[in-house]
Amino acid sequence: MEFNFENKVIIITGSSSGIGAETAKMFAHYKAKLCLVGRNESRLQNVAQHCELISGNVPLCLLLDLIQPGSCEEVITKTIEKFKRIDVLVNCAGKLKLGTLDQSDIDVFDEMMAINLRVPYYLTQLALPHLIKSKGNIVNIGSSYLERYKPGFLPFSVSKNALEKFTRHAAMELVPEGVRVNIINPGVTRTNLIRYLNIAESDVDYVYNNLIAELGLKKILEPKEVAKLVLLVASNLMPNMAGSSLKMDGAVIGIRIINIHKQYFRK
Ligand SMILES: NC(=O)c1ccc[n+]([C@@H]2O[C@H](COP(=O)([O-])OP(=O)(O)OC[C@H]3O[C@@H](n4cnc5c(N)ncnc54)[C@H](OP(=O)(O)O)[C@@H]3O)[C@@H](O)[C@H]2O)c1
Repeated sequence: MEFNFENKVIIITGSSSGIGAETAKMFAHYKAKLCLVGRNESRLQNVAQHCELISGNVPLCLLLDLIQPGSCEEVITKTIEKFKRIDVLVNCAGKLKLGTLDQSDIDVFDEMMAINLRVPYYLTQLALPHLIKSKGNIVNIGSSYLERYKPGFLPFSVSKNALEKFTRHAAMELVPEGVRVNIINPGVTRTNLIRYLNIAESDVDYVYNNLIAELGLKKILEPKEVAKLVLLVASNLMPNMAGSSLKMDGAVIGIRIINIHKQYFRK
């Protein structure tokens, strides 16, 4: 069983860090041509250099804040300018901000919806003509928190649930065009995502230990594990996988209501 991504053109948003960065490196291993998108220049360059070293292909690096007007258009036009085609779109850029109805501004909700839902929606629309030509596919990164109702996670959870519904709808629309759309819902994964929370460096282990207690497997996921699943779903080994919502959460033990400390909320 081997993947065939040689010379396939893959766009990965959020590839400067975490799951997106590991996904980029894994695609590079199979000699794909990459468009990497992120905001942090040194981290994005680092990933790009790593990919070039593995594959010999120079990635297209786009330093963009995707929620700013014009950014999504730039991703698609620059990719087509350089590579002339698009085979896979991985919508991985995302953020977690905590908020509750009574303690947070509407801005938290707006930002969650913008980066976790609007950006994947719009990139899908823009990439579509190219994906129809290539009979390509889209992999969205959701969250295992779809089914969990923890105080503090309302805006994030609503945005990821909407992304899941978007995925299923889009898959139904696009199956006749030969384009597959799927979503992977990871559980707690060791990445930089928690930097958006107001957690002191000294509290990070405490937070992870609390989260581990909820996991049957008692292990935080590594971003590489999620990356492997992204490649499998995107590959031609899965021609009939469309509209699927795949959870990978380390076997969560029931639903534990915990009090999220308000100090973790960040403006
Ligand atoms: N880690 C987890 O436990 C977990 C669990 C469930 C789902 N997820 C999902 O997995 C995806 C990847 O997150 P991660 O865990 O790998 O976190 P991460 O290490 O923080 O990576 C997030 C990526 O998204 C990019 N990003 C965020 N806002 C952006 C914006 N406005 N414009 C452009 N890029 C933006 C970041 O770019 P810069 O760093 O360059 O700003 C970074 O590359 C997200 O969709 C997240 O919701 C993660």
